[in-house]
Amino acid sequence: MLPTPNLDHLSSEDYEKVYNPAAVSLLLEDTFLFLDTLEDEVRFIKDDIKPCICLEIGSGTGCISTFLGQILGNGSTHINPHATATTIATGHRNSVLLDAITTDLTSGLLPRLNHAVDVICCNPPYVVTPHEDVHSKNILERSWAGGINGREVIDQILPLVNNLLSKNGVFYLLVINENMPDEICEKMRKEHQFQSEVVKFRLAGREKQYILKFKRCIDN
Ligand SMILES: C[S@@+](CC[C@H](N)C(=O)[O-])C[C@H]1O[C@@H](n2cnc3c(N)ncnc32)[C@H](O)[C@@H]1O
Repeated sequence: MLPTPNLDHLSSEDYEKVYNPAAVSLLLEDTFLFLDTLEDEVRFIKDDIKPCICLEIGSGTGCISTFLGQILGNGSTHINPHATATTIATGHRNSVLLDAITTDLTSGLLPRLNHAVDVICCNPPYVVTPHEDVHSKNILERSWAGGINGREVIDQILPLVNNLLSKNGVFYLLVINENMPDEICEKMRKEHQFQSEVVKFRLAGREKQYILKFKRCIDN
């Protein structure tokens, strides 16, 4: 059992600006589903992928980045500067050195890290909302607002992953039923030649949450 990162350095003021894994919506357990998945995948990641560079897109408190860093060492990106600072602070609190940058999705990393990242994790804004909410001025609202079918941010991330991921790399993405996981997998197969599988499923309240795992097709 790997320890869940300690978040006791964060205050209620921090959670006014940064996604709170435990309280933003009822029974929101997405962050913890991700941690469980990474724990199950540790041997595969260490032995098969042997990663040099790991990346979390949209790190929030930095809980997933720190967990990944405890295992491997890594970096993260975030559009919200408070979240970038919080991610670094969570790394410090847990004795994990993280590189975190404020950028829109991965724009600060491309093209420099083209095909250089070995593990990408993303718990994206996936909740079905009106399109306008994706661009809300309220930074907290943007942490969960996924727009039409909850897919608007996810659909921006998919081609970026194709650009960033190394030949042998792996991408983990959290989605819910409303995001149409089958269609996402099909899109990744057709447009970017990725194979996929569901590695975790959990019913959290009314949310059916999945962790999808993507790798490039072998003969690709
Ligand atoms: C569902 S939250 C997950 C937060 C954290 N990874 C976790 O699991 O607790 C999605 C995160 O993505 C961030 N985000 C939204 N749009 C983004 C963008 N365009 N670029 C980078 N991060 C973004 C949000 O601010 C939010 O913190």
